[in-house]
Amino acid sequence: MLAHLVESAFRERFGTEPCVVRSPGRINLIGEHTDYNDGFVLPAAIERSIYVAAGKSDSDVSTAAALDLNESFKFHSLVPLPVSQGGWRNYILGVLSQLKKLGVDLSGFNIVFSGDIPVGAGLSSSAALTTGIVFVLNEVFDLGLGRLQMVNIAHLAEHDFVGVRCGVMDQFAALMSKAGTATLLDCRSLKYEHIELDSSEIEFVLLDSGVSHELEESEYNDRRDSCERVATSLGVRSLRDLTADRLRAPSAEIDEHDFMKALYVLEEIERVKTGAEFLRQKEFGDFGKLMFESHGGLKEKFLVSCEELDFLVELAIGDPHVLGARMVGAGFGGCTLNLLRKGKGRGFAHRAGEMYLTRFDKPLKCYEVQIAGGTELVKPG
Ligand code: GLA
Repeated sequence: MLAHLVESAFRERFGTEPCVVRSPGRINLIGEHTDYNDGFVLPAAIERSIYVAAGKSDSDVSTAAALDLNESFKFHSLVPLPVSQGGWRNYILGVLSQLKKLGVDLSGFNIVFSGDIPVGAGLSSSAALTTGIVFVLNEVFDLGLGRLQMVNIAHLAEHDFVGVRCGVMDQFAALMSKAGTATLLDCRSLKYEHIELDSSEIEFVLLDSGVSHELEESEYNDRRDSCERVATSLGVRSLRDLTADRLRAPSAEIDEHDFMKALYVLEEIERVKTGAEFLRQKEFGDFGKLMFESHGGLKEKFLVSCEELDFLVELAIGDPHVLGARMVGAGFGGCTLNLLRKGKGRGFAHRAGEMYLTRFDKPLKCYEVQIAGGTELVKPG
């Protein structure tokens, strides 16, 4: 549907045949705020995606149109400078700027995109956009980039150009996921393993608090600063290289707020490793318990949850059909991810919706999750 929409909107607007690409949002089963500490994460791509139609223009001027927002802008492909308050525009310019750094100067092109990933819900719509853009440009201009190179370009577009000092998880999840699996990723070596998720036994449901986090840039970067301060003062490259004993040693002299955040990260890295083994063994109940623990850490130690998310996780803890639940993504709002035995999701979402309305006087959106593959070509140009 959306693929056809962007395709026909492109044709109508620019009069040529576009290349069309799908790039997915992601959930993260466990391993939050561990990626930029060189730790492990366990994301999976979802069916909700951004669809990008693109083709060359006949000059050096490029045009990009965001169908859902009914906005478009023109830019010079050779001079990608950030636009103040530019929103989605900077994700596109960020990709161009990274390509330029690699010595790739593109002539003009046109882009139309649309998607069904809720923005600000912690499902990584921004990485879906950057990865979709680099993927489609790779096709249109035949750049010969490999997927891992594209991960890097999309990551730096966000990190260096947009200025959210994010880790590599989201871009990696978009480009490297495999349908029906979660990806255990070592964010230092980028070694990864696809772990089968048995869709005949379990399902995932997302409950959207409706609190839009819009990547609280300064809060996110603050968390990262805390982690880096601890690593630096203990003389390691990143928190990945620390043990809890070393962190707790009296000689460590770490500020108590930083200490709690670092402790959360060390514990979460361990949870990912244990959780991956539970998934391999299909011990979903045990995996679910780790999700609850992860949320506890994000709430009490890393301080990135909020009242609405905590309420939703409490509901999940009290519901006999939910195996595990936690906030997903950067935090400060967005969704909780709930793991249930097959067929139990809808009923739970309904019960949660009623209680959420009573408590916060606002509706709760619920998304069923289909685990999908990574960024892909839908139609060649
Ligand atoms: C955002 C960032 C990721 C990661 C998560 C938290 O989604 O883009 O790199 O840090 O937050 O796990």
